[in-house]
Amino acid sequence: MAGVWHDGDAQIWGLEMHRTCYAFGLAADGTAVRHLYWGPALPRAALTGLAASGRGGISPWERRISGGQAQPDEYVPWGGLRYDEPSLKVEYADGTRALEWRFAAHRVTHHGSRAVLELDLADPAYGLLVTLHYQIYDGFDVLERWATIANPGPGGPVLIRQAHSANWWLPAGPRWRLRYLHGGWGAETQLTQTGLNYGKHVLESRSGTTSHHLNPWFTLDPDGAAAEDTGPVWSGALAWSGSWKLVCEVTPSGRLHACGGWNDFDWTHQLAPGGELVLPPFAGLHTTGGFGAASREWHAWQQAHVLGHGERTGAGRPRWAGGLARPAVADGADGADGAAGAEGGRPATEPALRPVLYNSWEATSFAVSADGQARLAELAAKLGIECFVVDDGWFTGRQHDHAGLGDWTPDPAKFPHGLDPLIERVAALGMRFGLWAEPEMVNPDSDLYRAHPDWVYHFANRARTEHRNQLVLNLARPDVAEWVFRTLDGLLSRHGIRFVKWDMNRPFSEPGWPAEAGEADGNPERIWAEHVRNLYAILDGLRAAHPGVEFESCSGGGGRVDLGILGRVDQVWTSDNTDAWDRVRIQEGFSQVYPPQVMMNWVTDSPNWLTGRRLPLSFRFHVAMAGGLGIGGDLLGWSSDELAEAATLIASYKEIRPVIQRGHLYRVASLDSDPLGAWQYLARDGSEVVLLGWWGPDQCGTRLFRPRLAGLDSSASYLDPVTGQAYLGASLMDVGLDLGQTADFGSTLVRLRRC
Ligand code: DGJ
Repeated sequence: MAGVWHDGDAQIWGLEMHRTCYAFGLAADGTAVRHLYWGPALPRAALTGLAASGRGGISPWERRISGGQAQPDEYVPWGGLRYDEPSLKVEYADGTRALEWRFAAHRVTHHGSRAVLELDLADPAYGLLVTLHYQIYDGFDVLERWATIANPGPGGPVLIRQAHSANWWLPAGPRWRLRYLHGGWGAETQLTQTGLNYGKHVLESRSGTTSHHLNPWFTLDPDGAAAEDTGPVWSGALAWSGSWKLVCEVTPSGRLHACGGWNDFDWTHQLAPGGELVLPPFAGLHTTGGFGAASREWHAWQQAHVLGHGERTGAGRPRWAGGLARPAVADGADGADGAAGAEGGRPATEPALRPVLYNSWEATSFAVSADGQARLAELAAKLGIECFVVDDGWFTGRQHDHAGLGDWTPDPAKFPHGLDPLIERVAALGMRFGLWAEPEMVNPDSDLYRAHPDWVYHFANRARTEHRNQLVLNLARPDVAEWVFRTLDGLLSRHGIRFVKWDMNRPFSEPGWPAEAGEADGNPERIWAEHVRNLYAILDGLRAAHPGVEFESCSGGGGRVDLGILGRVDQVWTSDNTDAWDRVRIQEGFSQVYPPQVMMNWVTDSPNWLTGRRLPLSFRFHVAMAGGLGIGGDLLGWSSDELAEAATLIASYKEIRPVIQRGHLYRVASLDSDPLGAWQYLARDGSEVVLLGWWGPDQCGTRLFRPRLAGLDSSASYLDPVTGQAYLGASLMDVGLDLGQTADFGSTLVRLRRC
């Protein structure tokens, strides 16, 4: 059970999670909250002892010989002798720029399987109220933190210059190592690492969206020696889909300080009297089980509390003002919380299985037509596809990427009778109908832009920089956000659309909102946060109004993948790079934090359009089966043998889908160190095992490599129903599974049943 305790004498708060705990305490004079501990579970008495023995605060002359024993600020206010990265930096109306606060109150509440602790800190001179929020979950080690800043008003408006969701203190370590995901278009989620030494390492996006370049997730291990299956690891992930910043610093005492939230670059927020600012959740976890255990914890927690729990039960319209009423990504899980724990007290409910989909983009590009799509749909249905998605190119003026964005009506030249005949045909074939849209964008060559040139981000007297011939709509404007909602709401209300691929194909530039374009608050720098808050509100509103519609997040491939968007969509488009060989590495990075269930992969044509590589159809399928399976090739060009093989592989995917999408993932071999990449999925009840393996070109007889399975019952037998061979669990884990001789770019799908 997730537990929160408060020792009133020592003024210490403790958060007891599944296998770990977290504690902080109040300085004797009530002016500072000190971090005490985050790590493996400890008895309460040990934590109380920590409070008594540690030195308070960090001295500006801190040195490593102090052993990192000082008790740093739980949430770092800028003011006084503080030189670490601050959590909060404000400027009061009289010019005062230093924060001071006093503990005011605390609250503990329980919501089904969640427990929430809130701590209020008030500035005695100006009244500013900062609330630190902590949320923990039965059966999990994930701690979700965020802060709310409220201005009751006596001190006038408050300018917020930096506001992080949380900061995390880790003990002194000999050789801290940071692992994170970097990349670019067509090369997302590449896992990389660096040793940390004194000073700061900053990961960030300034592009207005999550970005291809870096993803708001990290792991940290203190001696650089953690491995896939062993070692202490701390990991964090930010629930935010706009510009963000994570700072990891090794302080003079050798401690590791990690903090993050909204990027303060070019951002400020003017908090008017009576105003409140809710910061996005920043989740963290600790495990001693290495990187694999950290990933499995992230996956299981998202399945139980983040995915598919977007707001489908609201009033059916977006909230334009006041931000998200649902600051924690998990709040939508309330309905599910009462469910009996299936495993270690974890909720038993989970999001629906992802359908096998077809997407027309690589097949038709902009050359969409009602007949052409119908022909593809006929073939897709024969293969066993469950959702047919028409990508870009269906709307007025969209012959190429120079025109049309913003004019979201079917092109009468391509759909002379509108979309409905195609939608009805797809439904008659037994599939859901899906449609692509890029609602935050506009081409200058569009009726929308001609009518509303002031609706895009821009500065007076500056060029409007186009990328892919498009500009970004100023979603911070309530009228623009409302137009986007009504446009999408109208499309979904008029047509039988059951799936939306929501794309976003460029970063921000000229992020201005001039007064003549309606900015009334004298605070145009708030657009960075307002854009995303309104995007979330639109998605929440659409999901509430259209509960039968599923959403996919796409941003030129995987440019908008994060916990914030995952609370509101059902899946994400992982990368425009559909070369299966490249995908193995992209997927290995993706899986560090995000679960296979949301990772959409398409099987496309060979040679691949981007890399020119030729790969066997089975290899392309076995890579795509590692997450949510899709087909993206031009089926009209596939031979009857290829279509028959595809139908067989789709049928076998449907059989293993519950284990792939809901099981525990073990990365049992990696192309970084082994001759193949191999993922093992274990059903939650341990009864079924699926192994997918992807071989590269052989080098010096490396085919003898046997991946060693994990998480099995060593004394149980596991049967391969295809070969009839039974294996002892201990042998599979200690000796490995012989996958036989495989050709270059050969692949393997093995199923085992516990007997
Ligand atoms: C970028 C996406 O990643 C592609 O899948 C496709 O939808 C194109 N946009 C369409 O313009």
